[in-house]
Amino acid sequence: MKQTRIPLDNKVILLTGAFGLIGKTLSKAILESGAKLVLCDHNASKIEDMREHLLPFREGADYLICITDITSSSACAKCVDDAVGAFDHIDVLINNAAIDAKFDAQSNDVLNATRFENFPIEQLDRSYEVNIKGLILITQTVVRQMLKQQNGNIINVASTYSLVAPNQSLYDFGSEEIHYKPVDYVATKSMIPNLTRYLATFYAKDNIRCNAIAPHGIFNHHSESFVVNFEKLSPMGRMAGRDEMTGPFLFLASDASSYMTGSVLTVDGGWTAW
Ligand SMILES: NC(=O)c1ccc[n+]([C@@H]2O[C@H](COP(=O)([O-])OP(=O)(O)OC[C@H]3O[C@@H](n4cnc5c(N)ncnc54)[C@H](O)[C@@H]3O)[C@@H](O)[C@H]2O)c1
Repeated sequence: MKQTRIPLDNKVILLTGAFGLIGKTLSKAILESGAKLVLCDHNASKIEDMREHLLPFREGADYLICITDITSSSACAKCVDDAVGAFDHIDVLINNAAIDAKFDAQSNDVLNATRFENFPIEQLDRSYEVNIKGLILITQTVVRQMLKQQNGNIINVASTYSLVAPNQSLYDFGSEEIHYKPVDYVATKSMIPNLTRYLATFYAKDNIRCNAIAPHGIFNHHSESFVVNFEKLSPMGRMAGRDEMTGPFLFLASDASSYMTGSVLTVDGGWTAW
């Protein structure tokens, strides 16, 4: 599905989780919209793939790759220093990196078969480290720069599971082993709407906005049984194409949303509407 681009006029955008499913599509859309982009991800094995994906944009001139673990304060500081060194300032931070047990063909997460009462509590630490601590750490680091500039825009990536419980029947594929969306994701993502309101109100007078986006159900080679379940439960009766996420992100990153702060924009085909 081809999406209309919203001009971003040389804005500088720092995107975490830039090498993932949403990050990869969004990176290209951001560059096509005229912004400079800092791609922040900890997965160095994907660098070459991303360089190829972003052609004909020029590394160094149009974008910068920062291999960064957002749970490390020194790595976050280096990423922000490098971004400002390359592009002078940071207009927009998109907090997109997260740990998420998935159900697509590339995911093999054993946690998908774990009921709540048996969920290994130490696994919560892994999600907490990235989805809460890492998000707050990179935000603190970027906000210090935004305060110096006296402007900024933060977009937190939430989920429908920040707003409603998973309908676990989505993950019942009729096999003997029943699957569940695990609690670590739901618990950590649930804090995003209120953290967004916290940051929005904390920095409103400093000309720094903060909004969240809550996507749902992006198709990524899911099994037929997953897609059939999804279609039955979704008001729009289908999963999202990756390109369908880019418009709402670009809108929040642009000045078209200049009077928005503290809101959560759902991009879920109506999932949370019933
Ligand atoms: N895919 C969906 O359908 C969907 C639905 C709702 C919400 N979301 C949210 O959208 C965001 C992106 O999802 P996605 O599907 O692209 O996920 P993904 O797993 O494909 O990508 C996440 C990226 O984050 C990176 N990352 C993980 N830990 C990191 C760390 N410590 N430091 C830096 N980078 C790190 C990973 O390397 C990966 O490239 C997430 O916040 C997710 O919760 C996705």
